[in-house]
Amino acid sequence: MWRSPAPRRSAAPRHGSGRRLLLSTPIFYVNGPPHIGHLYSALLADALLRHRRLRTASPVRLCTGTDEHGLKIQQAAAAAGTSPPELCERVSGLFRQALTQAAVAYTDFTRTSEPRHQRAVRHFWGALRDGGVLYKGSYEGWYCTAQESFLPESQLAERKDAQGRPCKVSLETGHEVHWTKEENYMFRLSAFRDPLQNWLRDNPRAIFPDPFYQCVLRWLDEDLPDLSVSRERSRLQWGIPVPSDPTQTIYVWVDALVNYLSVVGYPESHGAWWPSVHHVVGKDILKFHALYWPALLLAAGLDPPERILVHSHWTVRGQKMSKSLGNVVDPTVCMEQYGVDGFRYFLLRQGVPERDCDYYDEKVVKLVNSELADALGGLLNRSTAPSINPSNTYPCFSEPCFPKVLDSREAKATSRVSAEDYELVAAVASLPAQVDGYFEGFQIYKALECIAQHVRQTNGFFQRHRPWKLDRRDPAEQLWLDTILHVTLECLRVYGLLLQPVVPHVADKLLSRLAVGPGERDLSGLRFLARYDGKPCPFEGRQLGPDTGILFHRLGKSESMKKRKQEAEVHDNQLV
Ligand code: MSP
Repeated sequence: MWRSPAPRRSAAPRHGSGRRLLLSTPIFYVNGPPHIGHLYSALLADALLRHRRLRTASPVRLCTGTDEHGLKIQQAAAAAGTSPPELCERVSGLFRQALTQAAVAYTDFTRTSEPRHQRAVRHFWGALRDGGVLYKGSYEGWYCTAQESFLPESQLAERKDAQGRPCKVSLETGHEVHWTKEENYMFRLSAFRDPLQNWLRDNPRAIFPDPFYQCVLRWLDEDLPDLSVSRERSRLQWGIPVPSDPTQTIYVWVDALVNYLSVVGYPESHGAWWPSVHHVVGKDILKFHALYWPALLLAAGLDPPERILVHSHWTVRGQKMSKSLGNVVDPTVCMEQYGVDGFRYFLLRQGVPERDCDYYDEKVVKLVNSELADALGGLLNRSTAPSINPSNTYPCFSEPCFPKVLDSREAKATSRVSAEDYELVAAVASLPAQVDGYFEGFQIYKALECIAQHVRQTNGFFQRHRPWKLDRRDPAEQLWLDTILHVTLECLRVYGLLLQPVVPHVADKLLSRLAVGPGERDLSGLRFLARYDGKPCPFEGRQLGPDTGILFHRLGKSESMKKRKQEAEVHDNQLV
């Protein structure tokens, strides 16, 4: 029976927002090029990273990489008539390129074929062996190469193969499974039911959103068989040999999971980061991250990760994405078509972690045009137009024009400010905290929905007061006009700041136009409409930044696509 080792001390401070954090994406299989599902995992993690950097000065890292070993890759290389190293080199490069193109600000990229990673895996294996949780046994079962996993009968279905012969397939992937009987090293997963249940009971937010937490709790009530953690080398050569037993190859999932440790210097220096780790993973790999990984960590004398953030899948026009259906969506093409920020915005605004989301092109065009181009871009364009702001400055706020009230219902009949205007000011003032809460709760789509709704509300404010109708020759009208513009630009400044983690280039363009300097863009010191509270506003009277053109070109016209491409090229040289 496995016994829990003495409590460990970790150098990573566990609580408070000022502590360091390691964020991770899953590492991607290199048997095929990147698709939008992969990008979605990475964008979620990237938005969390960027948001956190704007909130706190404490160190944060984002690790990603490629999962290069295993039968799946060995077979893919053979099918492509190439060697595994050559396939890995090429496809790993494609992932790196796609992530860079998508402005994913990863700090570390691990390839499991790297020597430093392999060394960490061998050490981890040694820790398991020394912990007495490995034994050699004869293992047989249905193996799904696509999932790199043995599957129980409950996850299988009967089908006919291409020749019409009956065969078994994985319910999840539809791929054929093969009966496999081998001498393997087994991991005593069954001994970890109590430790895992205790971990989850003590950390109810460890797996998020909650339906996935509940799902893991249910798995723990079911059968928890021991896990085969090696394969015979005669069948699988493309992997890390078991230390001191060259007839066996370490199971690719054990190898891959250890990337989260090797990246922070396991076995020497991981303590500075571990277990202050948040893993972003798709629901298909939840079992590996929420059962096997924490159990393996406990067995190796380490703590489970702090949080596992789970997302659902993208389907395409109602169908699962698959090579055989030929409906795999290439993120590189999408980013060229919709712009990097347009596509980032779409995936993060439309993707809901709790449920599957459906992708089709018309949806991207409609959403991005209406929220980024028309609502946000239109508002910036209208409120900075030379016709109403010829001095091109951040206009002044007049307190008598916009008197402070404690309750929006107090709006005076004498003032031009309506109850709706006061509601807008109150709503925007509380928006940053609301957005923080949504990021903390892994609901980035809700943060974006909320920002979009405030942008609409601000457009309503602008429209209601028709500043373009005011007569600037009349000093009283001029004060009111300036006040409307000041409030509008203050709203836009808040939206620009809050949108940085999702649309970094668009936000940069917006903030630069509003003359918000690089040192004025973090979220920790964000103050909205200081003048309304009788405090000085550092932006008031400042010369606006240069007008570098439309904030986001509407999609759908070849001309605007060309412009976006040119702008992206200019931007690539300036930003991460
Ligand atoms: N190599 C493993 C992960 C090992 S991590 C220690 C793997 N790789 S993967 O390339 O198949 O998947 C990587 C990520 O992409 C996973 O989070 C997975 O859920 C995600 N997606 C794959 N297809 C997806 C969709 N159709 N939609 C959204 N994300 C999906 O699993």
